[in-house]
Amino acid sequence: MKPSLLVARAIFPEVLQKLEQVFDVTSNQTDETWSKAQLTNKLQGKVGTLTTGTDRIDAEVLAACPQLKICANMAVGYNNFDIAAMTAAGVLATNTPDVLTETTADFGFTLMMATARRMTESEHYLRAGQWTKWSYDMFAGSDIHGATLGILGMGRIGQGIAKRGAHGFGMNVIYHNRSRLDAASEDACKARYVSKEELLKTADHLVLVLPYSASSHHAIGAAELALMKPTATLVNIARGGIVDDAALAAALRDRRISAAGLDVFEGEPAIHPDLLTVPNVVLTPHIASASVPTRLAMANLAADNLIAFFTHGKALTPLNAA
Ligand code: DGY
Repeated sequence: MKPSLLVARAIFPEVLQKLEQVFDVTSNQTDETWSKAQLTNKLQGKVGTLTTGTDRIDAEVLAACPQLKICANMAVGYNNFDIAAMTAAGVLATNTPDVLTETTADFGFTLMMATARRMTESEHYLRAGQWTKWSYDMFAGSDIHGATLGILGMGRIGQGIAKRGAHGFGMNVIYHNRSRLDAASEDACKARYVSKEELLKTADHLVLVLPYSASSHHAIGAAELALMKPTATLVNIARGGIVDDAALAAALRDRRISAAGLDVFEGEPAIHPDLLTVPNVVLTPHIASASVPTRLAMANLAADNLIAFFTHGKALTPLNAA
């Protein structure tokens, strides 16, 4: 008998077919949004599940699903998993590192450029039929080349953004991270380690790429925004909750910073209403890793983790030692 698997969200049909060769699969190809109670209900009798960042696996879910052995997240971020509770319950957690690094770094850079050069604000103006003549200061933004790029969180994606900035655009790269990179990695990124305070005060463009946890909750709030240059831009491609969205909307409205680019939001897909009323923000719906090849690679890695675990007893990219 094949092991029972729940694929909690819609995925590529070819990946589903691959899973069906090994598992007795219950899928959600209509991509219904399940409450925690519905997810718990669907997980009954399942030994494995393929989840995305919107599916919360915590002590309550685990207690109700004692047969569960592995949760394979189709995401590099895993703040939807309570890893301590999973380890205590003997449930393996996996994620999808590496396969999305370059695509996500591309997007971080794209969002930074769109923010600095006021892309969406100017497009809305044009589409609204307001463009009647050229003028010297119309949608004049800030430069990327030669500017100081600040990166908070210098993991694989942060380093990818740093390399694009330093080598492609002649940017002066500074970063802050829980731990400093080794000299060779700093050299490859042409990046200089600074305190968080110096990062905030010095960056022309600040990009957030740190993981979400209790300690990074509201890492950028009113106090941090107050330290930034009034000409600076802020980009968040990490996770909602790292930025205090209400404080950011107020800072954008009062022009305490120049502009922001946000791909992730506190409580997404809901958006803080004040962010929808300020013009100087570029908003995208959590798509930083969304190129077709990369999303396919993520789905395949999540599936391969499940297959490897059940066929060889060892997942490819485990997050815990359950
Ligand atoms: C990730 O991989 O963590 C992306 O944010 C997609 O959820």
